[in-house]
Amino acid sequence: MILIKEIYQEDYECCFKLDSITIGLWSKSQWKSEFKKKGVKVFALSLPRTIIGICVFHVVVDEAQINYFSILKDYRREGYGSHLMYFSIEKCKQLNLKKLSLEVSEANLAGNKFYEYFDFLTVGKRKNYYKNGVDALLKEKLI
Ligand SMILES: CC(C)(COP(=O)(O)OP(=O)(O)OC[C@H]1O[C@@H](n2cnc3c(N)ncnc32)[C@H](O)[C@@H]1OP(=O)(O)O)[C@@H](O)C(=O)NCCC(=O)NCCS
Repeated sequence: MILIKEIYQEDYECCFKLDSITIGLWSKSQWKSEFKKKGVKVFALSLPRTIIGICVFHVVVDEAQINYFSILKDYRREGYGSHLMYFSIEKCKQLNLKKLSLEVSEANLAGNKFYEYFDFLTVGKRKNYYKNGVDALLKEKLI
């Protein structure tokens, strides 16, 4: 059975662990401070014994940004990412938000296909945004 629930700062270590074996975006202290930001909610997608996906959802005025979104490698292409995304879109509707936005590396083919599947539109580009010189695409979806 899969479950999506909000998790809080005491769970920062398991977020760091999942991140370190997936995309390696943040350090432990960055995870800890992410939980403290105003408007940040962290959602975990779990199977009975393990967290297999995390979404960091940041409400800013009347929209939300996805600051982090990842599914464990062994569980990809099984619809789990979609569960978490449908949940995030539903959360936007419940909170009466107008837009969901995010940044994704232009080189991330899976990520780009995934957001295309959810009808996100590319609305901008940050040149040389990542350390390796790759551009970030700014994507958004009207709710
Ligand atoms: C992007 C990511 C979250 C997708 O999660 P997932 O659980 O594999 O996604 P789903 O199984 O729900 O896929 C939904 C649809 O997205 C598209 N998609 C997902 N992964 C894809 C891939 N590797 N190649 C092509 N299309 C893909 C497909 O259309 C897929 O539908 P289908 O399987 O019926 O063809 C996952 O690959 C991941 O965690 N990647 C690393 C982190 C990341 O890149 N995050 C996003 C950018 S920050």
